[in-house]
Amino acid sequence: MAGVSTTVLGIETSCDETGIGIVRDGELLADVTATSMDEYARYGGIIPEIASRAHLQQMVPTLKAALEKAGVGLGDLDAIAVTAGPGLIGSLTVGVSAAKSLALALGIPLYGVNHIIGHLAVDQLASGPFPESFIGLVVSGGHSSILHVRDIAGDVTELGGTLDDAAGEAFDKVGRLLGLPYPGGPHIDRLSRTGNRDAIRFPRGLEGGKNKARHRYDFSFSGLKTAVARYIEGLEERGEEVNVPDIAAGFTEAITDTLTDKALRACEDKGCDTLVVGGGFSANSRLRELAAQRGAERGINVRIPALRYCTDNGAMIAALGYSVAVSGRAPSSLDITVDTNMPLDLVAF
Ligand code: KG4
Ligand code: ZN
Repeated sequence: MAGVSTTVLGIETSCDETGIGIVRDGELLADVTATSMDEYARYGGIIPEIASRAHLQQMVPTLKAALEKAGVGLGDLDAIAVTAGPGLIGSLTVGVSAAKSLALALGIPLYGVNHIIGHLAVDQLASGPFPESFIGLVVSGGHSSILHVRDIAGDVTELGGTLDDAAGEAFDKVGRLLGLPYPGGPHIDRLSRTGNRDAIRFPRGLEGGKNKARHRYDFSFSGLKTAVARYIEGLEERGEEVNVPDIAAGFTEAITDTLTDKALRACEDKGCDTLVVGGGFSANSRLRELAAQRGAERGINVRIPALRYCTDNGAMIAALGYSVAVSGRAPSSLDITVDTNMPLDLVAF
């Protein structure tokens, strides 16, 4: 990178949030987000075509707002980073097209980066540089993954992930069973705080026999979701009251118990003293509490970004783009495409 100072603009459009972040020398100057989430409550899920069109509409106003907030002009930018995957194809395409146009017009490098790794990279903005080697737990609407990170700019190994539903996805599905609005995650979180987490013990998944060893770092949440559905059906058949807070609390406990246990196990196995947790589901209050408590018991430092940096945002992409840019790695070509299933060991194209 030329010059003494490096300013990177990050563009995030993998799902429903249009996020623009600006990072200069590791410091966040601006982070502006627009979302089309309000449009999906009546459908019970994101409609990709609506999301793509919303990105198209929100891109330039969000960009202008971020530049203004940062007090930065387009000419001050040294690089453009953009989410190239994983995500929805139409949504990703709007962001990558905008990023290419900016990089080409300004004559600066483009970095097409991985959204999931961005969820970890954002933690550097508040808590400073990462240790040489750490374990990352990324829990979002589409992923529940355990990663071994030796270098956030280019050396990431996937240790395990979900065999079926992601944690956020399981929450959204159980939210629907409980009659809660979409997305159910934050509603279940709120309700579970008033419930008794020991009232109902739901299955943990991959708990016994061969599965336990074979899937040491993997998750399976679809059996749990079915168990919750059966439990509710049973109550209804018997004409008993459905205690939503207790179900929410028991379900939350099953998921957060497994996530924290397996992620901390990976830290011990790999000799890492730091666990970084990220992704939309890391906003979950019980996950944050349990990870901190169990980390302290096992002597592992648990880092979780502030709530607003857990769900999708532009700062995470600017943060990862900044790390990649200063690592000296070659920029992405201007003919990159998007990858809806971008592998988690690929930090940037
Ligand atoms: O990372 P994210 O914003 O988007 C994806 O990349 O998927 O994650 C969104 C997911 C949704 O499933 C949402 O229900 C979940 O994160 N979520 C939560 C909470 N806040 C958001 N799940 C549980 N508890 C929360 N407080
Ligand atoms: Zn995400």
